[in-house]
Amino acid sequence: MSTPSSSNVSAPQQQQQPQQQHLEQFRLNPEEELRVEASTPVTLTLLDGGTAEIFGTELAVGRAYSFSHQNLAVFSWHGCTIEVRGDPVHVYKASDTPMPTYANIHFALETMREQAESSGSLGPRLVICGPVDSGKSSLSSILLGYATKRGRRPLFVDLDIGQGTISCPGVLAASVVDQPADVEDGLRVSAPLAYYFGHVSPTENPRRFRGLVEKLVAGIEARMAHDPVVRCSGLICNTMGWVDDLGYELLVHTCKSLQATSVVVIDHDRLYTDLDRHLNGPLAADPPPQPASAPSPVALIKVPKSGGVVSRPTAFRRSARFSRIRTYFHGPRDTYSPARGNLKFDEIRLFRIWGGKEAPRSALPLGAAPTFDTTRLLEVGPGPDCLNSLVAVVYARSEEDLPTANVAGFLHIVQVDLTTKTLAYLSPMAGPLPSKFLIMGSLKWIEQ
Ligand SMILES: Nc1ncnc2c1ncn2[C@@H]1O[C@H](COP(=O)(O)OP(=O)(O)OP(=O)(O)O)[C@@H](O)[C@H]1O
Ligand SMILES: [Mg+2]
Repeated sequence: MSTPSSSNVSAPQQQQQPQQQHLEQFRLNPEEELRVEASTPVTLTLLDGGTAEIFGTELAVGRAYSFSHQNLAVFSWHGCTIEVRGDPVHVYKASDTPMPTYANIHFALETMREQAESSGSLGPRLVICGPVDSGKSSLSSILLGYATKRGRRPLFVDLDIGQGTISCPGVLAASVVDQPADVEDGLRVSAPLAYYFGHVSPTENPRRFRGLVEKLVAGIEARMAHDPVVRCSGLICNTMGWVDDLGYELLVHTCKSLQATSVVVIDHDRLYTDLDRHLNGPLAADPPPQPASAPSPVALIKVPKSGGVVSRPTAFRRSARFSRIRTYFHGPRDTYSPARGNLKFDEIRLFRIWGGKEAPRSALPLGAAPTFDTTRLLEVGPGPDCLNSLVAVVYARSEEDLPTANVAGFLHIVQVDLTTKTLAYLSPMAGPLPSKFLIMGSLKWIEQ
Protein backbone atom coordinates (compact mmCIF):
# COMPACT_ATOMS: atom_id res chain seq x y z
CA MET A 1 0.00 0.00 0.00
CA SER A 2 1.40 3.40 -0.93
CA THR A 3 1.89 6.11 1.60
CA PRO A 4 -0.21 9.30 1.29
CA SER A 5 2.81 11.34 0.18
CA SER A 6 3.64 9.05 -2.76
CA SER A 7 0.16 8.06 -3.94
CA ASN A 8 -0.82 11.05 -6.05
CA VAL A 9 1.90 12.69 -8.16
CA SER A 10 -0.49 15.22 -9.66
CA ALA A 11 -1.55 16.61 -6.30
CA PRO A 12 -0.68 20.25 -5.61
CA GLN A 13 2.77 20.85 -4.18
CA GLN A 14 1.56 21.70 -0.69
CA GLN A 15 -0.33 18.37 -0.40
CA GLN A 16 2.83 16.42 -1.15
CA GLN A 17 4.62 17.80 1.88
CA PRO A 18 4.44 15.45 4.86
CA GLN A 19 2.42 17.13 7.57
CA GLN A 20 4.61 18.90 10.09
CA GLN A 21 4.32 17.03 13.35
CA HIS A 22 5.16 18.60 16.62
CA LEU A 23 8.09 16.83 18.27
CA GLU A 24 9.08 17.29 21.89
CA GLN A 25 11.19 15.46 24.46
CA PHE A 26 10.31 15.27 28.15
CA ARG A 27 12.78 14.30 30.85
CA LEU A 28 11.04 12.48 33.73
CA ASN A 29 12.69 12.26 37.14
CA PRO A 30 12.19 9.10 39.22
CA GLU A 31 8.51 8.65 40.23
CA GLU A 32 7.25 11.27 37.81
CA GLU A 33 4.74 10.75 35.04
CA LEU A 34 3.94 12.33 31.71
CA ARG A 35 0.19 12.81 31.21
CA VAL A 36 -1.05 12.81 27.67
CA GLU A 37 -4.55 13.53 26.39
CA ALA A 38 -4.73 12.70 22.70
CA SER A 39 -7.66 13.31 20.36
CA THR A 40 -5.52 12.91 17.22
CA PRO A 41 -2.73 10.38 16.57
CA VAL A 42 0.18 10.80 18.94
CA THR A 43 3.35 8.67 19.05
CA LEU A 44 5.35 8.09 22.23
CA THR A 45 8.87 6.67 22.30
CA LEU A 46 10.97 5.78 25.33
CA LEU A 47 14.49 6.92 24.55
CA ASP A 48 17.60 5.02 25.58
CA GLY A 49 18.71 4.91 29.20
CA GLY A 50 15.50 4.72 31.23
CA THR A 51 12.43 2.70 32.11
CA ALA A 52 8.78 3.66 31.83
CA GLU A 53 5.36 2.03 31.93
CA ILE A 54 1.81 2.81 30.90
CA PHE A 55 -0.82 1.52 33.36
CA GLY A 56 1.39 -1.36 34.53
CA THR A 57 2.93 -2.37 31.19
CA GLU A 58 6.57 -1.58 30.52
CA LEU A 59 7.57 0.24 27.34
CA ALA A 60 10.31 -1.14 25.12
CA VAL A 61 13.17 1.27 24.45
CA GLY A 62 13.08 2.84 21.00
CA ARG A 63 9.67 1.50 19.98
CA ALA A 64 7.14 4.08 18.81
CA TYR A 65 3.71 3.52 20.39
CA SER A 66 0.71 5.16 18.73
CA PHE A 67 -2.45 6.40 20.43
CA SER A 68 -5.48 8.37 19.46
CA HIS A 69 -8.59 9.45 21.39
CA GLN A 70 -6.95 8.28 24.57
CA ASN A 71 -5.77 9.67 27.89
CA LEU A 72 -2.81 8.06 29.54
CA ALA A 73 0.17 8.47 31.83
CA VAL A 74 3.71 7.34 31.15
CA PHE A 75 5.12 6.68 34.60
CA SER A 76 8.79 6.12 35.42
CA TRP A 77 10.11 4.60 38.64
CA HIS A 78 13.75 5.39 37.83
CA GLY A 79 13.60 8.31 35.40
CA CYS A 80 13.66 8.41 31.60
CA THR A 81 13.22 10.56 28.51
CA ILE A 82 10.06 10.31 26.42
CA GLU A 83 9.71 11.65 22.92
CA VAL A 84 6.23 12.83 21.96
CA ARG A 85 5.32 13.23 18.30
CA GLY A 86 1.98 14.74 17.31
CA ASP A 87 -0.38 17.30 18.78
CA PRO A 88 -1.90 16.09 22.03
CA VAL A 89 -4.64 18.23 23.55
CA HIS A 90 -2.62 18.30 26.76
CA VAL A 91 0.81 16.95 27.62
CA TYR A 92 2.45 17.72 30.94
CA LYS A 93 4.67 16.27 33.65
CA ALA A 94 3.44 15.53 37.18
CA SER A 95 5.40 14.47 40.23
CA ASP A 96 2.45 14.04 42.59
CA THR A 97 1.00 10.62 41.70
CA PRO A 98 -0.63 7.82 43.72
CA MET A 99 1.69 5.24 42.11
CA PRO A 100 3.67 4.53 45.33
CA THR A 101 0.34 3.79 47.08
CA TYR A 102 -0.72 1.56 44.19
CA ALA A 103 2.63 -0.27 44.35
CA ASN A 104 2.11 -0.84 48.09
CA ILE A 105 -1.25 -2.45 47.35
CA HIS A 106 0.52 -4.72 44.88
CA PHE A 107 3.11 -5.69 47.51
CA ALA A 108 0.38 -6.42 50.07
CA LEU A 109 -1.38 -8.65 47.50
CA GLU A 110 1.94 -10.40 46.78
CA THR A 111 2.39 -11.15 50.48
CA MET A 112 -1.10 -12.67 50.57
CA ARG A 113 -0.29 -14.71 47.44
CA GLU A 114 2.91 -16.04 49.01
CA GLN A 115 0.96 -17.03 52.12
CA ALA A 116 -1.66 -18.73 49.97
CA GLU A 117 1.09 -20.53 48.06
CA SER A 118 2.71 -21.92 51.15
CA SER A 119 -0.53 -22.92 52.84
CA GLY A 120 -2.34 -24.09 49.66
CA SER A 121 -5.24 -21.77 50.39
CA LEU A 122 -7.01 -19.07 48.41
CA GLY A 123 -5.19 -15.93 47.28
CA PRO A 124 -6.38 -12.34 47.70
CA ARG A 125 -9.73 -11.23 46.30
CA LEU A 126 -9.63 -7.52 45.64
CA VAL A 127 -12.60 -5.40 44.59
CA ILE A 128 -11.81 -1.93 43.23
CA CYS A 129 -14.56 0.63 43.60
CA GLY A 130 -15.03 4.36 43.39
CA PRO A 131 -17.14 6.94 41.62
CA VAL A 132 -17.22 7.45 37.87
CA ASP A 133 -13.86 8.54 36.43
CA SER A 134 -11.83 7.89 39.54
CA GLY A 135 -9.24 5.63 37.93
CA LYS A 136 -10.67 2.14 38.70
CA SER A 137 -9.91 0.61 35.32
CA SER A 138 -6.42 2.13 35.28
CA LEU A 139 -5.68 0.71 38.74
CA SER A 140 -7.03 -2.72 37.69
CA SER A 141 -4.68 -2.69 34.73
CA ILE A 142 -1.70 -1.62 36.88
CA LEU A 143 -2.28 -4.35 39.48
CA LEU A 144 -2.86 -7.03 36.83
CA GLY A 145 0.29 -5.92 35.01
CA TYR A 146 2.41 -6.05 38.18
CA ALA A 147 0.98 -9.45 39.18
CA THR A 148 1.71 -11.05 35.79
CA LYS A 149 5.23 -9.64 35.84
CA ARG A 150 5.73 -11.75 38.99
CA GLY A 151 4.50 -14.85 37.18
CA ARG A 152 1.03 -14.76 38.74
CA ARG A 153 -2.13 -15.63 36.83
CA PRO A 154 -4.91 -13.70 38.56
CA LEU A 155 -8.52 -13.72 37.47
CA PHE A 156 -9.73 -10.39 36.21
CA VAL A 157 -13.41 -9.89 36.95
CA ASP A 158 -15.02 -7.05 35.02
CA LEU A 159 -18.45 -5.95 36.20
CA ASP A 160 -18.44 -2.61 34.38
CA ILE A 161 -21.23 -3.42 31.92
CA GLY A 162 -21.04 0.10 30.47
CA GLN A 163 -17.66 -0.62 28.85
CA GLY A 164 -17.06 -4.39 28.91
CA THR A 165 -13.28 -4.58 28.73
CA ILE A 166 -13.08 -8.39 28.56
CA SER A 167 -15.74 -9.05 25.97
CA CYS A 168 -18.43 -6.58 24.89
CA PRO A 169 -20.48 -3.94 26.68
CA GLY A 170 -23.47 -5.40 28.53
CA VAL A 171 -21.39 -8.39 29.68
CA LEU A 172 -20.24 -9.52 33.12
CA ALA A 173 -17.05 -11.47 32.61
CA ALA A 174 -14.00 -13.04 34.19
CA SER A 175 -10.81 -14.28 32.64
CA VAL A 176 -7.39 -15.46 33.72
CA VAL A 177 -4.75 -12.86 32.87
CA ASP A 178 -1.23 -14.12 32.31
CA GLN A 179 0.45 -11.15 30.65
CA PRO A 180 0.33 -7.37 31.05
CA ALA A 181 -2.06 -5.50 28.77
CA ASP A 182 -0.68 -4.56 25.37
CA VAL A 183 0.26 -0.88 25.53
CA GLU A 184 -1.70 -0.06 22.36
CA ASP A 185 -4.26 -2.87 22.08
CA GLY A 186 -5.24 -3.34 25.73
CA LEU A 187 -5.94 -6.52 27.66
CA ARG A 188 -5.42 -9.88 25.95
CA VAL A 189 -7.60 -12.70 27.23
CA SER A 190 -8.77 -16.03 25.95
CA ALA A 191 -11.75 -18.22 26.83
CA PRO A 192 -13.42 -15.81 29.25
CA LEU A 193 -16.38 -16.73 31.38
CA ALA A 194 -18.97 -14.27 30.12
CA TYR A 195 -22.65 -13.70 30.86
CA TYR A 196 -24.80 -11.37 28.83
CA PHE A 197 -26.75 -8.87 30.88
CA GLY A 198 -27.87 -7.16 27.69
CA HIS A 199 -28.04 -3.57 28.95
CA VAL A 200 -25.47 -0.97 29.93
CA SER A 201 -27.06 -0.09 33.27
CA PRO A 202 -28.06 -2.48 36.07
CA THR A 203 -31.25 -0.46 36.70
CA GLU A 204 -32.74 -2.31 33.73
CA ASN A 205 -32.85 -5.54 35.70
CA PRO A 206 -31.08 -5.58 39.09
CA ARG A 207 -32.20 -9.11 39.93
CA ARG A 208 -30.65 -10.47 36.79
CA PHE A 209 -27.47 -8.49 37.52
CA ARG A 210 -27.22 -10.06 40.98
CA GLY A 211 -28.01 -13.50 39.60
CA LEU A 212 -25.30 -13.23 36.97
CA VAL A 213 -22.73 -12.05 39.54
CA GLU A 214 -23.52 -15.17 41.57
CA LYS A 215 -23.27 -17.36 38.51
CA LEU A 216 -19.94 -15.77 37.62
CA VAL A 217 -18.67 -16.40 41.14
CA ALA A 218 -19.63 -20.08 40.85
CA GLY A 219 -17.60 -20.29 37.61
CA ILE A 220 -14.68 -18.52 39.28
CA GLU A 221 -14.70 -20.97 42.20
CA ALA A 222 -14.68 -23.89 39.76
CA ARG A 223 -11.80 -22.35 37.84
CA MET A 224 -9.81 -21.79 41.02
CA ALA A 225 -10.48 -25.31 42.25
CA HIS A 226 -8.80 -26.73 39.16
CA ASP A 227 -5.83 -24.38 38.86
CA PRO A 228 -3.54 -23.94 41.87
CA VAL A 229 -1.65 -21.02 40.27
CA VAL A 230 -4.87 -19.12 39.64
CA ARG A 231 -6.13 -20.03 43.11
CA CYS A 232 -3.21 -18.45 44.92
CA SER A 233 -2.95 -15.53 42.45
CA GLY A 234 -6.49 -14.52 43.50
CA LEU A 235 -8.70 -12.09 41.65
CA ILE A 236 -8.99 -8.41 40.86
CA CYS A 237 -12.48 -7.08 40.27
CA ASN A 238 -13.23 -3.83 38.42
CA THR A 239 -16.64 -2.33 39.14
CA MET A 240 -18.82 0.36 37.62
CA GLY A 241 -18.81 3.92 38.93
CA TRP A 242 -22.33 4.00 40.36
CA VAL A 243 -21.83 4.13 44.12
CA ASP A 244 -25.19 5.44 45.40
CA ASP A 245 -28.57 3.78 46.02
CA LEU A 246 -28.94 0.64 43.91
CA GLY A 247 -25.36 1.03 42.65
CA TYR A 248 -24.16 0.84 46.26
CA GLU A 249 -26.38 -2.16 47.07
CA LEU A 250 -24.94 -3.99 44.09
CA LEU A 251 -21.40 -3.16 45.22
CA VAL A 252 -22.06 -4.67 48.65
CA HIS A 253 -23.61 -7.70 46.96
CA THR A 254 -20.54 -8.03 44.71
CA CYS A 255 -18.08 -7.82 47.61
CA LYS A 256 -20.03 -10.42 49.58
CA SER A 257 -20.56 -12.77 46.64
CA LEU A 258 -16.90 -12.66 45.65
CA GLN A 259 -15.90 -13.09 49.30
CA ALA A 260 -13.65 -10.08 48.94
CA THR A 261 -10.64 -10.13 51.22
CA SER A 262 -9.76 -6.51 50.34
CA VAL A 263 -11.67 -3.59 48.91
CA VAL A 264 -9.98 -0.53 47.45
CA VAL A 265 -12.07 2.63 47.56
CA ILE A 266 -10.79 5.43 45.34
CA ASP A 267 -11.46 8.97 46.45
CA HIS A 268 -14.77 8.60 48.30
CA ASP A 269 -14.84 8.87 52.10
CA ARG A 270 -18.52 8.05 52.53
CA LEU A 271 -18.29 4.98 50.35
CA TYR A 272 -15.31 3.82 52.39
CA THR A 273 -17.14 4.23 55.69
CA ASP A 274 -20.41 2.71 54.44
CA LEU A 275 -18.66 -0.31 52.94
CA ASP A 276 -16.73 -0.85 56.15
CA ARG A 277 -20.00 -0.83 58.12
CA HIS A 278 -21.73 -3.15 55.67
CA LEU A 279 -18.87 -5.61 55.22
CA ASN A 280 -17.32 -5.64 58.68
CA GLY A 281 -19.41 -3.62 61.09
CA PRO A 282 -22.86 -3.72 62.62
CA LEU A 283 -24.64 -3.77 59.24
CA ALA A 284 -22.86 -6.92 58.05
CA ALA A 285 -25.93 -8.94 59.05
CA ASP A 286 -24.93 -11.79 56.84
CA PRO A 287 -21.13 -11.80 56.88
CA PRO A 288 -19.64 -13.82 54.04
CA PRO A 289 -17.95 -17.10 54.86
CA GLN A 290 -14.28 -16.17 54.62
CA PRO A 291 -11.88 -18.42 52.70
CA ALA A 292 -9.82 -20.46 55.15
CA SER A 293 -6.63 -18.45 54.73
CA ALA A 294 -8.16 -15.00 54.48
CA PRO A 295 -7.78 -12.69 57.40
CA SER A 296 -11.19 -11.56 58.55
CA PRO A 297 -12.47 -8.86 58.43
CA VAL A 298 -12.40 -7.45 54.90
CA ALA A 299 -9.49 -5.01 54.54
CA LEU A 300 -10.79 -1.62 53.36
CA ILE A 301 -8.14 0.51 51.67
CA LYS A 302 -8.75 4.16 50.92
CA VAL A 303 -6.65 5.60 48.10
CA PRO A 304 -6.53 9.02 46.46
CA LYS A 305 -7.54 9.63 42.88
CA SER A 306 -4.73 10.47 40.52
CA GLY A 307 -4.71 14.13 39.47
CA GLY A 308 -4.28 12.86 35.93
CA VAL A 309 -7.60 11.01 35.67
CA VAL A 310 -9.68 12.68 33.01
CA SER A 311 -13.46 13.08 33.34
CA ARG A 312 -15.22 11.85 30.24
CA PRO A 313 -18.55 13.27 29.14
CA THR A 314 -21.47 10.96 28.36
CA ALA A 315 -20.95 11.32 24.60
CA PHE A 316 -17.32 10.21 24.99
CA ARG A 317 -18.41 7.15 27.00
CA ARG A 318 -20.97 6.27 24.36
CA SER A 319 -18.41 6.48 21.61
CA ALA A 320 -15.89 4.49 23.73
CA ARG A 321 -18.60 1.81 24.08
CA PHE A 322 -19.14 1.69 20.33
CA SER A 323 -15.43 1.54 19.69
CA ARG A 324 -15.26 -1.41 22.11
CA ILE A 325 -17.92 -3.20 20.01
CA ARG A 326 -16.04 -2.31 16.85
CA THR A 327 -12.85 -3.76 18.34
CA TYR A 328 -14.73 -6.98 19.10
CA PHE A 329 -15.64 -7.40 15.43
CA HIS A 330 -12.66 -5.79 13.69
CA GLY A 331 -9.78 -6.27 16.14
CA PRO A 332 -7.95 -3.51 18.04
CA ARG A 333 -6.38 -1.98 14.93
CA ASP A 334 -9.23 -2.58 12.54
CA THR A 335 -7.22 -5.33 10.88
CA TYR A 336 -9.87 -8.09 10.78
CA SER A 337 -12.95 -8.36 8.64
CA PRO A 338 -15.85 -10.05 10.37
CA ALA A 339 -17.44 -13.02 8.57
CA ARG A 340 -20.93 -12.50 7.13
CA GLY A 341 -23.50 -15.27 7.50
CA ASN A 342 -27.19 -15.91 7.08
CA LEU A 343 -29.64 -17.71 9.30
CA LYS A 344 -33.14 -18.88 8.53
CA PHE A 345 -35.58 -17.82 11.23
CA ASP A 346 -36.41 -21.48 11.95
CA GLU A 347 -32.74 -22.41 12.48
CA ILE A 348 -32.49 -20.35 15.66
CA ARG A 349 -34.33 -19.61 18.88
CA LEU A 350 -34.11 -15.96 19.82
CA PHE A 351 -34.83 -14.77 23.36
CA ARG A 352 -35.09 -11.26 24.68
CA ILE A 353 -33.78 -10.26 28.08
CA TRP A 354 -36.56 -8.70 30.06
CA GLY A 355 -35.64 -5.08 30.63
CA GLY A 356 -38.65 -3.82 32.56
CA LYS A 357 -38.12 -2.46 36.03
CA GLU A 358 -39.43 -4.31 39.06
CA ALA A 359 -42.60 -2.88 40.57
CA PRO A 360 -41.66 -1.05 43.77
CA ARG A 361 -42.75 -3.02 46.82
CA SER A 362 -44.57 0.08 48.05
CA ALA A 363 -46.95 -0.29 45.10
CA LEU A 364 -47.90 -3.83 46.12
CA PRO A 365 -50.39 -4.98 48.76
CA LEU A 366 -48.87 -5.36 52.23
CA GLY A 367 -46.66 -8.45 52.42
CA ALA A 368 -46.83 -9.19 48.69
CA ALA A 369 -43.69 -9.70 46.65
CA PRO A 370 -43.27 -8.89 42.94
CA THR A 371 -44.43 -11.97 41.02
CA PHE A 372 -43.00 -11.22 37.59
CA ASP A 373 -39.62 -12.86 37.34
CA THR A 374 -37.37 -10.23 35.84
CA THR A 375 -34.56 -12.74 35.39
CA ARG A 376 -36.69 -14.54 32.82
CA LEU A 377 -35.97 -14.51 29.11
CA LEU A 378 -38.85 -14.22 26.67
CA GLU A 379 -38.78 -16.06 23.37
CA VAL A 380 -39.40 -13.61 20.55
CA GLY A 381 -39.47 -14.46 16.89
CA PRO A 382 -36.79 -12.71 14.83
CA GLY A 383 -38.26 -9.52 13.44
CA PRO A 384 -37.45 -5.98 12.38
CA ASP A 385 -36.47 -4.96 15.93
CA CYS A 386 -33.44 -7.29 15.72
CA LEU A 387 -31.80 -5.02 13.18
CA ASN A 388 -28.45 -3.64 14.41
CA SER A 389 -28.74 -5.62 17.66
CA LEU A 390 -25.79 -7.15 19.42
CA VAL A 391 -26.92 -10.71 19.97
CA ALA A 392 -25.18 -13.26 22.20
CA VAL A 393 -24.85 -16.86 21.08
CA VAL A 394 -24.91 -18.86 24.30
CA TYR A 395 -23.89 -22.38 25.24
CA ALA A 396 -27.25 -23.87 26.16
CA ARG A 397 -28.74 -27.29 25.53
CA SER A 398 -32.26 -26.33 26.45
CA GLU A 399 -34.36 -23.33 27.32
CA GLU A 400 -33.87 -24.05 31.03
CA ASP A 401 -30.10 -23.39 30.72
CA LEU A 402 -30.66 -19.99 29.17
CA PRO A 403 -30.90 -17.48 32.04
CA THR A 404 -27.35 -18.22 33.14
CA ALA A 405 -25.80 -19.64 29.97
CA ASN A 406 -22.19 -18.68 29.17
CA VAL A 407 -21.64 -16.54 26.08
CA ALA A 408 -19.88 -18.26 23.17
CA GLY A 409 -19.67 -15.07 21.11
CA PHE A 410 -21.60 -12.17 19.65
CA LEU A 411 -23.33 -11.55 16.35
CA HIS A 412 -24.20 -8.20 14.89
CA ILE A 413 -27.51 -8.41 13.02
CA VAL A 414 -27.13 -6.36 9.85
CA GLN A 415 -30.21 -7.36 7.86
CA VAL A 416 -33.63 -8.82 8.55
CA ASP A 417 -35.54 -10.12 5.52
CA LEU A 418 -39.14 -10.87 6.41
CA THR A 419 -39.93 -12.20 2.92
CA THR A 420 -37.28 -14.91 2.93
CA LYS A 421 -37.39 -15.16 6.74
CA THR A 422 -33.65 -14.75 6.96
CA LEU A 423 -31.25 -12.82 9.20
CA ALA A 424 -27.87 -11.62 7.95
CA TYR A 425 -25.19 -11.21 10.60
CA LEU A 426 -21.54 -10.38 11.12
CA SER A 427 -19.42 -12.54 13.38
CA PRO A 428 -15.71 -12.37 14.29
CA MET A 429 -15.50 -16.10 13.42
CA ALA A 430 -16.59 -17.85 10.23
CA GLY A 431 -18.35 -21.21 10.34
CA PRO A 432 -21.44 -22.68 11.94
CA LEU A 433 -22.72 -21.26 15.23
CA PRO A 434 -21.96 -23.33 18.34
CA SER A 435 -25.59 -23.16 19.45
CA LYS A 436 -29.01 -22.22 18.11
CA PHE A 437 -29.86 -20.23 21.25
CA LEU A 438 -29.47 -16.46 20.83
CA ILE A 439 -30.07 -13.73 23.40
CA MET A 440 -30.87 -10.14 22.57
CA GLY A 441 -30.77 -7.19 24.97
CA SER A 442 -31.15 -3.48 24.37
CA LEU A 443 -27.67 -2.94 22.88
CA LYS A 444 -27.65 -1.79 19.29
CA TRP A 445 -24.78 -0.65 17.13
CA ILE A 446 -24.60 0.92 13.69
CA GLU A 447 -21.23 0.52 12.08
CA GLN A 448 -19.73 3.78 10.80
N1 LIG B 1 -2.54 9.34 35.67
C1 LIG B 1 -3.27 9.54 34.58
N2 LIG B 1 -2.90 10.45 33.65
C2 LIG B 1 -3.63 10.68 32.54
N3 LIG B 1 -4.78 10.04 32.28
C3 LIG B 1 -5.20 9.13 33.17
C4 LIG B 1 -4.48 8.81 34.35
N4 LIG B 1 -5.15 7.85 35.04
C5 LIG B 1 -6.25 7.57 34.30
N5 LIG B 1 -6.28 8.33 33.19
C6 LIG B 1 -7.33 8.36 32.16
O1 LIG B 1 -8.49 8.92 32.77
C7 LIG B 1 -9.67 8.30 32.24
C8 LIG B 1 -10.47 7.71 33.41
O2 LIG B 1 -9.70 6.69 34.05
P1 LIG B 1 -10.30 5.24 34.31
O3 LIG B 1 -10.92 4.69 33.08
O4 LIG B 1 -9.25 4.42 34.96
O5 LIG B 1 -11.42 5.63 35.37
P2 LIG B 1 -12.65 4.75 35.85
O6 LIG B 1 -12.87 5.07 37.27
O7 LIG B 1 -12.42 3.31 35.51
O8 LIG B 1 -13.81 5.32 34.95
P3 LIG B 1 -15.28 4.69 34.76
O9 LIG B 1 -16.06 5.10 35.97
O10 LIG B 1 -15.79 5.29 33.51
O11 LIG B 1 -15.14 3.21 34.64
C9 LIG B 1 -9.18 7.24 31.27
O12 LIG B 1 -9.24 7.80 29.98
C10 LIG B 1 -7.74 6.98 31.69
O13 LIG B 1 -6.96 6.52 30.62
MG1 LIG C 1 -13.61 1.95 34.37
